[in-house]
Amino acid sequence: MNYTRRQVLSLLARGPTPGPELADRLGISRTAVWKHIEALRGRGFEIETGEGGYELTSIPEYGGAAVQLGLEAPYRIEYRESVASTNDVAREFAAAGERDVVVLADEQTGGRGRQSREWHSPSGGIWLSILVEPDLPPARAPLLTLAAAVAVVRAVDSLGVEATIKWPNDVLVEGGSGDELKLAGILTEMTGEADRVSWVVVGIGINANVDRADVGEGATTLRELVGDVDRREVVQRLLEEFHGLLDDPDSIRGAWIDRASTLGREVRIETGSETFEGRATDITAVGALEVETSTGTETVHAGDCEHLRPL
Ligand code: BTN
Repeated sequence: MNYTRRQVLSLLARGPTPGPELADRLGISRTAVWKHIEALRGRGFEIETGEGGYELTSIPEYGGAAVQLGLEAPYRIEYRESVASTNDVAREFAAAGERDVVVLADEQTGGRGRQSREWHSPSGGIWLSILVEPDLPPARAPLLTLAAAVAVVRAVDSLGVEATIKWPNDVLVEGGSGDELKLAGILTEMTGEADRVSWVVVGIGINANVDRADVGEGATTLRELVGDVDRREVVQRLLEEFHGLLDDPDSIRGAWIDRASTLGREVRIETGSETFEGRATDITAVGALEVETSTGTETVHAGDCEHLRPL
């Protein structure tokens, strides 16, 4: 949605506004105001014309404009009904030099998980990718993945869903009898040079208003846990939390530790080159997992982690 139309919306969100006042404040003609109002109506915003001017009476349930309205984070939302993968679309924006863009989709037809796994992404879920250029050296870029996991956990807190984080990026909920089910996952992709990150795409998938049978094995959904949720609110909360954490990178590690369920647990680690078991004891300043094994402490920067015993 273009900048002026977003401005029209945020002015109307404050209350009924006469057309001439909108025109004055935005420095555009009354005809242009009217065209923007018509375009917004076409996108599902209900705008009535009354004595006080234009009045915003209802907004669409979900979509780019709905998420953008009232969002307290500096991202431009690019909404698509259906894409192969929001990460791929975000990478195209990155290649075009764009930053601070969030690609949001109702459905993905080729959703990707870590280790090239398929990520089931039916209509009704929350599938999004945040494209940013963080002011961090490449070695600290993994902190973005940790920040995304914390942001997801905080976003679902307000729904009464108590989630925890399994290193590095799985958001889990207890499924009864001690087992843990996956509610959300994160796939971070980046490029840069030795000393600077050029862009990072943080892809986040939350199984929201979808049936459990339609997501992967060992997974659950918000619909299953608490019923259908207002995806607009969840996405806004998630983006605001993520932006807040990025603003203060030194707070990310502590925030992650607060919500993690991995530390203190017996784990099996698979790095691609080796597999070992031990007790997860800590994460480093850049988000690597420290595991105490029978032969010493291993520091794991990337890999799969399995919790060996139930909570
Ligand atoms: C994982 O747990 O393996 C990571 C899953 C990441 C899924 C999200 S959904 C939005 C974004 N687009 C993708 O294709 N993948 C990520």
